[in-house]
Amino acid sequence: MTSPAQDVQQAFRTAMRNIAATVTIVTAGHHERGHGMTATAVSSVSLDPPSLLVCINSKTLLHDIMSASERFCVNVLAQEHLNLSQAFSGGIPPAERFALGDWAETEDGLKYLASAHARIVCARRLAIPFGTHTVFIGEVVDVRVSGRQAPLLYHDATYCRPTPVASH
Ligand SMILES: Cc1cc2nc3c(=O)[nH]c(=O)nc-3n(C[C@H](O)[C@H](O)[C@H](O)COP(=O)(O)O)c2cc1C
Repeated sequence: MTSPAQDVQQAFRTAMRNIAATVTIVTAGHHERGHGMTATAVSSVSLDPPSLLVCINSKTLLHDIMSASERFCVNVLAQEHLNLSQAFSGGIPPAERFALGDWAETEDGLKYLASAHARIVCARRLAIPFGTHTVFIGEVVDVRVSGRQAPLLYHDATYCRPTPVASH
């Protein structure tokens, strides 16, 4: 028999599966300590200052690296990056991940995906631990948009593409 708390957790999991999200790879660290991880728990926070948040499980390697880094980068994936999303969510070991895809580095060594739909570089401002995750809030310091129009979505534990249902 499950407890009321477990019932809520299960129902919450089911509810969240039905929230479609754009897939990103969040990178942090620099040069040989650079690391990246697939994440959909990404949201804008404010436009002034431009800022966003990322929720990262405290058991992950990225969590340790982000906690020690001044900057992180949100790489917004397009559909052609499906294999990268799979690789960066545990499909291949961290040391081998950056061999896949057209990764480059900023002047201070932060890795970014050159072909990403957008790359958003943030200066880490706040880290708020809550439950299993930490909410990292970053102030946006640089944005490059490639103009690719086909975002990679994740919905009901499945990779998807957006389909319009109406013109307005
Ligand atoms: C589509 C997708 C979205 C994910 N979003 C998040 C997320 O927002 N935050 C998080 O902590 N883990 C998220 N994960 C899980 C991590 O990508 C996964 O646990 C990763 O393998 C752990 O990182 P590591 O292998 O670098 O330690 C997501 C996984 C997938 C497949």
